[in-house]
Amino acid sequence: MTERRAAGVARVLIDEATIQARVRELAAALDDRYRDDVPLLVGVLTGAVGFMTDLMRAMTVHVELDFMAVSSYGASTRSTGVVRILKDLDQDVEGRRIVVVEDIVDSGLTLQYLLDVLARRNPAELRVVALLKKEKPGAIPVQVDDVGFTIPDEFVVGYGLDYAGKYRNLPYIAVLDPSAINPE
Ligand code: IMP
Ligand code: MG
Repeated sequence: MTERRAAGVARVLIDEATIQARVRELAAALDDRYRDDVPLLVGVLTGAVGFMTDLMRAMTVHVELDFMAVSSYGASTRSTGVVRILKDLDQDVEGRRIVVVEDIVDSGLTLQYLLDVLARRNPAELRVVALLKKEKPGAIPVQVDDVGFTIPDEFVVGYGLDYAGKYRNLPYIAVLDPSAINPE
């Protein structure tokens, strides 16, 4: 690996071609579903940006975009699922058909919180597409309608996902070398 962006990568878990092929399948399914309507794709910043941009460009129906940014309060909130909204939607979603676009569902707490917030705003429909879902014992059974890939319970980076802010621009999903991960 000679690219600077790949420094610390131990192995590629899902390569670029495999991701792109699966994104096209997910987009085709969304095309079918929203043939006569304009869905509002709600991207969860920042991790979902890579997936969102590829997904929307693979769709052929009209779509509208909006974004939310959330932040958990730290270790103690992992158990409660309380997250803070750092950036809210720019528009009223009452009566809209919403598709939440997520990078990865790990414990499920972030997504569950987001879905609770959005559901209270009375959308016509609330669905979720996640690129990755971890096979995690103890994860909460949160609604995910479409999943790109189910992966083992490992920390992954790339295609939007970061470690300490880096690696989001890898075009594949990878596992880092333990020596690239600084113990806190
Ligand atoms: P959850 O609330 O535990 O489901 O966590 C979801 C959020 O944690 C995701 O949207 C990611 O931002 C982050 N996250 C979870 N697992 C990973 C990972 O393996 N790599 C990078 N970020 C992750
Ligand atoms: Mg995220």
